[in-house]
Amino acid sequence: MTSLHTYRTGDGMPLVLLHAFPVDHRMWDDVAAALPGARAVHAVDLPGTPGNAEQLPPPSIDTSALRVADALAGAGIERAVVAGLSMGGYVALALAELRPALVAGLGLVDTKSVADAPEAAANRLRIADAAESSGTVDVVRSMPGTLLGETTRAARPELADRVGGWIGEQPPAGVAWSQRAMAARPDRTRVLADFAGPVTVVVGDEDGLTPLEQAQHMADAAPGALLVVVPRAGHLSAVEDPGTVADALEELASRAEQSA
Ligand code: MLT
Repeated sequence: MTSLHTYRTGDGMPLVLLHAFPVDHRMWDDVAAALPGARAVHAVDLPGTPGNAEQLPPPSIDTSALRVADALAGAGIERAVVAGLSMGGYVALALAELRPALVAGLGLVDTKSVADAPEAAANRLRIADAAESSGTVDVVRSMPGTLLGETTRAARPELADRVGGWIGEQPPAGVAWSQRAMAARPDRTRVLADFAGPVTVVVGDEDGLTPLEQAQHMADAAPGALLVVVPRAGHLSAVEDPGTVADALEELASRAEQSA
C-alpha cells in the first residue's frame, strides 16, 4: 500500500520525500536530480497511488505516516530527514508526532499545520464521493490550474501538461481515500513546537492553496525554523523551481546531520 522509490543511495543522513495530492513520487524527480551532495534520496508513494490502491484501510493521514515508517524500516532506515509537499507535509507532521525518533529534520513545503475548516472538509468529501461514484479522476483533472503558480502557467504550459498526466494516472479510489484522510486530519501545529530537530518551511510566493501566512504560522511555531520563499512559484514549488527547493532541503539535511 506504499512503495519506496530510491533515487540514489549514499552516505550520511538520508532524505525522504513525500508527495502532494493528487500525484505521486514523480513530482520529486527534478528535485532529486538537482540535489547537491551524496546522501541517499528516497521518495514514498503514499496509499492510494498507482499500485498502492488495493485493499485500502480506513482513510487516515496517520495510517499513511505509519506506512511510511514501515517502508523505511523495510529499507533499514532508522532515521532520516523527511520533507513533504502539501499532503506530504501533513504526513510528515504525523510521522514526527507518531515516530519522533525516525525524523531527524522536517521539511514542510507548500503545506500547513492547521486542520481544515468545516466547509473545506465538506468539499473534500464531495470530491471523494464524485471520484468514487464516477470511477474517474475527472473531478480533480483541472487541478494543475490551481497547483501551479500564475508565472509557471503563463511561461511553461508544458508543466501543466506534465502534472495533468500524473493526475490522470491516479486511481479514483486513491483520490477518494486521500481526500477523506485529509478531511479528518487534526491540527498539528503543536507538533512543531515539540519537535527537537531542525525545520525548514518552504513556500512558493504564488502559492494560493497554502499561502505564505500558513508557512509563517508553521515557522513561528517551530523554534529556530528557517523560512524559504520561492519567487515566481506556486503550490508545486518543487516542480516549478526544483533547484531552489533542492538547495533548501540539502541545507536542512546538513543541519540535521550536524545536530544528530
Ligand atoms: C496537495 O497539494 O497535496 C493538496 O493541495 C493538499 C490539500 O488539498 O490540502
